[in-house]
Amino acid sequence: MSDDVLVSARGLEVHFPVGGRGFRKQPAGVLRAVDGVDLDIYRGETLGLVGESGCGKSTLGNALLRLVPSTGGSITFGGTDITGLDGRKLKELRRRAGMVFQDPFASLDPRRTVAQTVSEPLEVHGLRKGRDKAARVGELLELVGLDPAVAGRYPHEFSGGQRQRVGIARALAGEPDFLVCDEAIASLDISVQAQVLNLLRRLQRQLGLTLLFVSHDLSAVRYIADRIAVMYLGRIVEIGPAAAVGSDPQMPYTQALLSAVPVPHPALERERKRIVLTGDVPSPAAVPSGCRFRTRCPYVFEPCDDVDPALQPVGAPGQQAACHLHGVVGTPATAPEGITATP
Ligand SMILES: Nc1ncnc2c1ncn2[C@@H]1O[C@H](COP(=O)(O)OP(=O)(O)OP(=O)(O)O)[C@@H](O)[C@H]1O
Ligand SMILES: [Mg+2]
Repeated sequence: MSDDVLVSARGLEVHFPVGGRGFRKQPAGVLRAVDGVDLDIYRGETLGLVGESGCGKSTLGNALLRLVPSTGGSITFGGTDITGLDGRKLKELRRRAGMVFQDPFASLDPRRTVAQTVSEPLEVHGLRKGRDKAARVGELLELVGLDPAVAGRYPHEFSGGQRQRVGIARALAGEPDFLVCDEAIASLDISVQAQVLNLLRRLQRQLGLTLLFVSHDLSAVRYIADRIAVMYLGRIVEIGPAAAVGSDPQMPYTQALLSAVPVPHPALERERKRIVLTGDVPSPAAVPSGCRFRTRCPYVFEPCDDVDPALQPVGAPGQQAACHLHGVVGTPATAPEGITATP
C-alpha cells in the first residue's frame, strides 16, 4: 500500500427515480442509493466495504467502475477524471478496472469453454492472438490455481470454488490495476470461502492489485482488508485501518455491526456485549434529516436531528467517523435557523 491514490470519489451520488404514477410516469421521488460519498482508495491496498443489505455497497462499487451512471459528484482513476468518460477511453477503463461477481454460476456463460470465457477480455481489448492467446489463458489459469488442461471444459463441470477461480482469471486477463470483488465469496460453501479469500489475498500481493472487497462478512473483511469502510444509507460513516475499525470502532453503527460478529474464544464470546439496533434501516427514498443513523442510534442527542455529521479524524491515525459524539462537525441538513456547525 502506498500514499498514492488510485480511485477517488468526491460527493458521489447515485440517485434513482422512484414511485412514478400516472401514464406519464412522473418520478415521485428519489432513492438515494449513494448519497454524497467521499472516498480515496490507495494503490495496492485492499479496502473492505461493509454495511447492511441495501445500504448502497454494490451501487457504489458499480459507480466507481462506471457500470452505473452517477447523478452527482466526481470520480477519478489514476488521477484522471472518469466521471464522463466514453468511447475508447471508457473501453480502456474497462480493461484497467474490473469486477469479480458474486455468483460464479450466473456470471459464466454455460455455452462457453473456460478458454473462451477467460480469453474474452483479451479479444475485446486486442491483447493477444492465436497461440499467444492460448498460452496467456494457460498462464491465467495457473495464476488462479487451476490446471491449464481444464481450458476446454465447460462451467457445469466445475465446483463453485473452481468457477469463481475462472471468474477471477477472466477479471485478471486485461491486467487490471483495480478490482471490485462484490460478495465474491458469499455464494460459496464455507470450506471453499477461505480458499478463495486466500487466493484473492495472494493475487493482490503478487500483482500489486488494488481491491475493493465488498462483503456482509465482517470476519472475512477483517481478515483480508488493510482498511475498512462502513456504509450506511448511501454514505461512508466510518473508515480507517482494519485493526482500528475492527477493534475500536468510533461510530455507534460500526459498534453495532461488530458486536454481532461472534468471537472465536469461549471466554471472550461469553463477555461479548451485543448492541442490538432497534428498528429497520429507513428507506433510502426517505433518508432521515441530520445524522442518517439517528433513528436507530442508542446515543442520539440534540444535534443529531439537524446537523448531518461529516467524517472527521478520530481514534487511531487514519481513522475517521461521522458522529456527533466526537464533536459537532457537519452541515445543517435542513439549514435550520440558529444552528451552526462548529468547524
Ligand atoms: N437500478 C436500480 N433502480 C432503483 N433502485 C436501485 C437500483 N439498484 C439499486 N437500487 C436500490 O439502491 C439501494 C442500494 O442497493 P445496493 O444493491 O447498492 O445495496 P447493497 O448494500 O449492495 O445491498 P446488499 O448487501 O443486499 O447487496 C437499495 O435500496 C436498492 O433497492
Ligand atoms: Mg450488494
